[in-house]
Amino acid sequence: MSIQRAFLVAAAIFIAVAAGFYFFGDHAGGQPSGLLSATAWQRMASPGALSQAHAFLEHDCAACHTSVQGATATKCVACHANETALLQRQPTAFHGNVASCQECHVEHQGLHNHPIAMDHSALAEIGFHQLAQSDSDDGVNRMVSRQLLDWIAQHKTADVEPDHHISIKPNAAVLDCARCHATIDPHRELFGNDCAQCHGVKNWTIPEFRHPSASSTNCMHCHQAPPSHYMMHFKMISAKVARQPSADVTECFKCHQTTSWNDIKGIGWYKHH
Ligand code: HEC
Ligand code: HEC
Ligand code: HEC
Ligand code: HEC
Ligand code: HEC
Ligand code: HEC
Ligand code: HEC
Repeated sequence: MSIQRAFLVAAAIFIAVAAGFYFFGDHAGGQPSGLLSATAWQRMASPGALSQAHAFLEHDCAACHTSVQGATATKCVACHANETALLQRQPTAFHGNVASCQECHVEHQGLHNHPIAMDHSALAEIGFHQLAQSDSDDGVNRMVSRQLLDWIAQHKTADVEPDHHISIKPNAAVLDCARCHATIDPHRELFGNDCAQCHGVKNWTIPEFRHPSASSTNCMHCHQAPPSHYMMHFKMISAKVARQPSADVTECFKCHQTTSWNDIKGIGWYKHH
């Protein structure tokens, strides 16, 4: 936490100093000056080529940088305010609330770098930082703070060490996973909302997990039947298709393989619609 914060502070100071004195002093706007043309000093000062998507800004450093603060979120948002798909998708809706971008969208790594990386720790840091700074008298800030608190389960930071996956750093463990990932929960809430109990933040797969065999009779412990299994459809279609007219809904193992729900025992692949 402190290392990261120290880094951010150091980077901010560096960018502020460097930008103020080297790049954006009197020369912003691209006028040739002194011995070096604007493009020459830009090239010299640039820490590396921009990504493909931003390559068109190669000669317009000020599109992202300001002389005092370095690259700022305000400048990014000026061009990216209307990303409705991003804002409407559950895991990325947080874009409407964060006041910092470069933690996950690193630039100057070259034309072929795709500058998108999900960094859960950075996200939690950004959230905490904004909450600490927010002025509760301001209505807009109050609204943003409430939204931040939706995905930062702050109560978890109290003395109780949260029971989370060993690969998750403590700062990321304060995130409320289900707020952003409930829509892809394949367990239909049967395993609860605390995804971090079993999952890390890099991959959903769990290498050490071995699925019980198809002859297990405990399917119900870990799986929920779809709503159609509790309707007429079950007796009229599912049970007939599986040739198990007397099987109860709870006896998944009588009809299902463990490979795919559409792989029906003794029948093979079956897709209804
Ligand atoms: C002058 C306008 C402008 C500014 C300023 C700007 N962008 Fe972009 N950005 C674009 C355009 C245009 C694209 C390409 C969009 C597309 O292909 O749909 C893009 C693409 C992206 C992408 C997708 C990258 C990819 O490889 O697919 C991300 C992420 C992004 N910008 C983030 C940022 C961040 C963070 C900042 C601030 C540091 C920023 N942008 C500043 C215009 C801008
Ligand atoms: C904590 C990490 C994080 C932060 C902070 C962050 N982003 Fe993102 N952003 C992502 C991730 C991850 C995606 C890719 C989402 C996906 O496609 O699943 C993304 C996607 C995007 C895209 C869409 C790219 C595309 O492929 O079309 C844009 C534009 C963007 N971010 C801009 C911003 C801006 C502007 C900010 C600052 C206000 C910001 N982001 C802050 C993680 C972050
Ligand atoms: C699309 C937005 C964008 C444009 C355009 C852009 N930069 Fe940057 N720049 C960034 C971001 C974001 C950072 C923050 C650190 C990082 O992501 O690597 C940064 C960091 C820097 C740094 C500090 C390097 C560091 O490691 O802290 C320098 C110096 C810099 N930029 C110079 C330039 C110059 C010169 C230009 C014009 C040729 C330019 N930038 C154009 C987004 C941009
Ligand atoms: C504020 C939203 C948010 C919160 C809270 C959050 N995540 Fe994520 N997570 C994302 C985004 C965005 C991605 C990038 C992939 C995407 O867009 O779906 C991601 C990616 C992941 C991935 C990798 C998926 C892949 O295939 O690349 C895992 C695993 C994950 N998150 C687990 C967690 C866990 C565990 C927690 C709780 C400790 C958590 N997340 C909390 C937004 C969030
Ligand atoms: C009690 C432990 C446990 C909890 C809690 C849990 N999961 Fe899982 N989850 C698993 C196991 C085990 C797998 C199978 C992993 C594998 O096959 O590698 C899995 C698989 C997944 C997969 C599919 C991985 C793949 O690609 O095959 C996703 C997505 C997922 N879980 C999301 C979630 C979300 C979201 C939550 C919280 C709402 C959650 N899980 C809570 C144990 C859990
Ligand atoms: C100890 C818990 C557990 C038991 C018992 C169990 N499963 Fe699973 N099963 C999982 C987890 C976790 C996954 C991976 C997450 C997911 O896709 O739901 C999974 C995945 C599956 C899948 C793949 C779903 C897909 O679309 O990829 C099928 C099919 C399945 N199980 C059927 C069964 C059947 C049939 C039984 C009983 C014979 C059974 N399971 C017993 C935990 C269990
Ligand atoms: C009597 C046989 C039978 C039993 C018992 C049964 N199913 Fe099914 N199930 C089917 C058949 C056949 C299908 C294929 C499509 C359909 O009929 O809707 C199916 C489809 C499904 C699907 C896929 C639905 C979709 O929309 O793609 C899931 C998930 C599923 N079953 C889970 C379960 C679980 C979990 C149990 C136990 C709690 C269970 N089933 C018990 C026969 C059965």
